[in-house]
Amino acid sequence: TDPALIRNFCIIAHIDHGKSTLADRMLQITGVVDDRSMRAQYLDRMDIERERGITIKSQAVRLPWNGHVLNMIDTPGHVDFTYEVSRSLQACEGAILLVDAAQGIEAQTLANLYLAMHNDLHIIPVLNKIDLPAAQPEKFAEELAGLIGCDPSDVLRVSGKTGVGVKELLDHVVETVPAPVGDADAAARALIFDSVYDTYRGVVTYVRVVDGHLGKRERITMMSTQATHETLEIGVISPEPKVAEKGLGVGEVGYLITGVKDVRQSRVGDTVTSAARGATEMLAGYDHPRPMVFSGLYPIDGDEYPELREALDKLQLNDASLVYEPETSAALGFGFRVGFLGLLHMEIIRERLEREFGLSLISTAPNVVYRVVMEDGKELTVTNPSEFPTGGKIAQVFEPVTKSTILAPAEFIGAIMEICQGRRGQLQGMDYLSEDRVEIRYTLPLGEIIFDFFDQLKSRTRGYASLDYEPAGEQEADLVKVDILLQGEPVDAFSAIVHKDKAYGYGVDMAKKLRELIPRQQFEVPIQAAIGARVIARENIRAIRKDVLAKCYGGDISRKRKLLEKQKEGKKRMKMVGRVEVPQEAFVAALSTE
Ligand code: GTP
Repeated sequence: TDPALIRNFCIIAHIDHGKSTLADRMLQITGVVDDRSMRAQYLDRMDIERERGITIKSQAVRLPWNGHVLNMIDTPGHVDFTYEVSRSLQACEGAILLVDAAQGIEAQTLANLYLAMHNDLHIIPVLNKIDLPAAQPEKFAEELAGLIGCDPSDVLRVSGKTGVGVKELLDHVVETVPAPVGDADAAARALIFDSVYDTYRGVVTYVRVVDGHLGKRERITMMSTQATHETLEIGVISPEPKVAEKGLGVGEVGYLITGVKDVRQSRVGDTVTSAARGATEMLAGYDHPRPMVFSGLYPIDGDEYPELREALDKLQLNDASLVYEPETSAALGFGFRVGFLGLLHMEIIRERLEREFGLSLISTAPNVVYRVVMEDGKELTVTNPSEFPTGGKIAQVFEPVTKSTILAPAEFIGAIMEICQGRRGQLQGMDYLSEDRVEIRYTLPLGEIIFDFFDQLKSRTRGYASLDYEPAGEQEADLVKVDILLQGEPVDAFSAIVHKDKAYGYGVDMAKKLRELIPRQQFEVPIQAAIGARVIARENIRAIRKDVLAKCYGGDISRKRKLLEKQKEGKKRMKMVGRVEVPQEAFVAALSTE
C-alpha cells in the first residue's frame, strides 16, 4: 500500500469510557465485520477479558475506508499495562482521545493523553456516549478543549452504542492524521507492539513497519537479542488474519509468525530487522517491563505443585512480564514467588490459574521490592518479606515510589489529602481542570498503594475519584519487618514490611483480624505480632470441641454423612499451619482496612 493512503491510529480512553464499543462500531461501519457475525467486544478474544469487560492485549485491525487503509490499534486502558499502551502509541501517528460525555476527564484520560503527546501524536478529542440522558457534552467539550488547547467546537461527538457520528469520525481520521513517513529503500525496521501466544500457530507478533520491507520466508533478526528466525507467515488482521503475499512495507501494520513458542523471544518494544541486511539502530525505547508487585502462590493441595509450575510456564508463553521462581515456605510448603506489573495483573493471573487450570491456590499478601543496604556495604534485593534481614546490621532500606495522579470533584480534596497524607504521601501539586474538577499529584510509596488504597479512595469519594500512577524511582524509608506468630511459631507467609510508625497499629490490627478469621480449634491458639524478639500485640483464639455430629441425635446415617461431607467441603480452603487450620482469607487479611 502507498504510505500516503495509510492512517495509523489508536483509541485512548479511561477504563469504561467505551473504547471497545466504539471499535466494534468501526468494524461494522467499515464493513470488515458484517452485522450477522457482529458480537460485542469483537476484538477482546480472551474469555476473561470479555467477562471483566477490559482489554488486556492490544490488537491491530485494518479497516478499509474511502480508498484509504486505516489501521486501528487498540490499547489496554489500565495502569498496569502502561508499557504496552506506550508501545502501541509508538506504532501510530494519531490518537482518538475518547471521553465519556457523562463522566468527563478521568485519571487515565490524562495519563494516556500525556503519553500520546509525548509520542507526538495528532490528537482527536471525542466525546462518547452522547446518547446518554446524563451526557453533558457542552460542559465536557469545554473541559477537554481546555486540556488540549483547542476550541470546544473541535471536539467531536459520537455514540459508540448507536453509531451516531462514527462515520464522521473516520473521515476526520483520514483528513487529519498524518500519513506514515519512512524510507522504503532503507534496511527494514519494524516495531513489535504486541506479541501473543497461540496454541496452534505459536507466537503471533504484531509489528509496525517503519522503514524498508518485511517479506515471507525471510530471515529476520530481533535486534535486542540478535536472535534470528524465519518468517513463516506475514499478513494483516481484518479482522481475521489474512496473508499478505507481498509482505509489509513502510507504514504498514500487521503480524508475522516465525514458529517461536515463547513471547519472550519476540518482545514488545523490540525492533525486527532483516538478517541479510540488518539495520544498525534500533527503534527508540526498548526496555524490559519490571515487575513491581510480588506475591507467593501456593497450591492448597501440595500435590498440585507440578501442575502449578506447568500452568505458570504456559501463562508465561503469552506474558513476557510474568516472572516467578520456586520458593519454600515453612507454613505453606512448596510454591512460587511471582512478580507482577501491578495489582490488576496479579488478580488476572490468579484468576486464570484457578479458572483455566483448575488450581486451588493460596496467595500471600502482595508486597513491593525493597533494596536493603547492610552496614558492611552488601546489598540485598528483598522480594519476600520473610527474607528481610533482622538484627541491627541494616544501614539503609529503599522502597519504590510512584508519581500518582488523582482526579476528583473538588469537594473531595480534603478527604483525598487525608488518605494520601496517612500513607506517607507528599503533595506535588494541584490543578483545577474546571471549576469543580481537580487534579491532585502526590509522590506515594508503591507499598502504600497496594494495600487497598484504591478501594479507600473510591469509598471516601463515593466512587468519583480516579487514580493513575507510574513508577518514580525509590526513596529511603524507615521500615521494619512485623512477624506474626501462631502458638509461638512465626508464620513466614504472614510477615510484612511496614513503616516504623505504623508497625504497632499494624500488629494490633493483624492479630485482631486473624483472631476473627481463624476458626476455633480443639486447643487454644495464641496469636502474637512481633518486631524481632519484641512482641507488640497478642490475641487468643479459645479452644472448642467442634463436634458436628453432636447435633444429630438418633441414627440418621445419611444426615450424618451429609454433615461430615459439608465439614470436609468447608475445610477445602484451609491450610494446616503447624497444628492450626488457617483459612485462605487469613493470608491476605492485611489487604483490607476493615
Ligand atoms: P476497557 O476495555 O475496559 O477500557 O473499557 P472500554 O473503554 O472498552 O469500554 P466498553 O466499550 O467496554 O464500554 C463500557 C460500558 O459503556 C459498556 O457497558 C458499554 O455498553 C457502555 N457504552 C459504550 N459506549 C456507549 C455509548 O455510546 N452509549 C452508551 N449509552 N453506552 C455506551
